[in-house]
Amino acid sequence: MTNKIITLVTGANRGMGLEIVKELAEADQTVLLGSRDLTKGQAAADKLVAAGLDVEAIQLDITDPESISRAVELVGKQYGKLDILINNAGASFDHFQDPSILKLDVIRREFDLNVFGTIDVTQQFIPLLKQSDSAKIINISSMMGSLTEALNPESSVYNASSMGYQATKSAVNMFTVQLAKEFQRKAIPITVNAIDPGLVATEFGGTSADSALEYGAQPVEVGVARTVELATAPKNDITATFSNTHGKVNW
Ligand SMILES: NC(=O)c1ccc[n+]([C@@H]2O[C@H](COP(=O)([O-])OP(=O)(O)OC[C@H]3O[C@@H](n4cnc5c(N)ncnc54)[C@H](OP(=O)(O)O)[C@@H]3O)[C@@H](O)[C@H]2O)c1
Repeated sequence: MTNKIITLVTGANRGMGLEIVKELAEADQTVLLGSRDLTKGQAAADKLVAAGLDVEAIQLDITDPESISRAVELVGKQYGKLDILINNAGASFDHFQDPSILKLDVIRREFDLNVFGTIDVTQQFIPLLKQSDSAKIINISSMMGSLTEALNPESSVYNASSMGYQATKSAVNMFTVQLAKEFQRKAIPITVNAIDPGLVATEFGGTSADSALEYGAQPVEVGVARTVELATAPKNDITATFSNTHGKVNW
């Protein structure tokens, strides 16, 4: 088994996932770039490998249980462990639609991806995370999932109305808390934390990164800063937290 830190990032062929892969590989981690479309993932990985980084593309559709189990098998055979799992893959399919009329099938698609996909990947990789001396699960959540901020007129997300997407991130937050507590109770050395990246210029929500920058979104380097900080922290003693670059975020 290698001494290098082995990290898997889901949804990493573009956007924040790709930037996280790059920065963690630059920090000397071996990074598996998860992509539901292996051709896209390979193209993204090739550029990083050409720059001398230790990156490998891996096919991973988080809504496909068999794709996940194949990825687990591959990581197990090749590395025998996983040190860091970054659950980044996610999407929003509802924007400013009133919850009184928002279609159930839209909400279901969001839960299938952001919640059930995230839980399935995590549960299937737990045996490999347990092979690490000190593992980390980092869930890319959002302040949009904070009930406290949704009720706070001073908050930047007070006027947001994407109930389906927001509810998925609230659910990811609860998964974070309960899994962290389970590991603490059982003295399993795996921490679990949720991150709010802020409003970040990617293709999230069907926009282009450039147009998102124009309406005030932050560059990806800023969006991934807290995640990279947590993933590279030498001490692994923080668990059950929700944070961003400014500090603690209200649940
Ligand atoms: N951008 C923001 O302002 C913002 C704010 C708060 C939180 N977030 C969260 O940050 C995370 C990353 O978002 P982003 O801004 O980087 O968005 P993005 O550019 O749209 O990237 C999303 C990534 O998820 C992948 N994905 C979608 N469905 C998948 C599936 N079934 N299996 C595996 N991968 C899948 C996409 O792959 P394809 O290329 O194949 O579609 C893509 O690589 C998400 O969880 C999002 O909710 C974003």
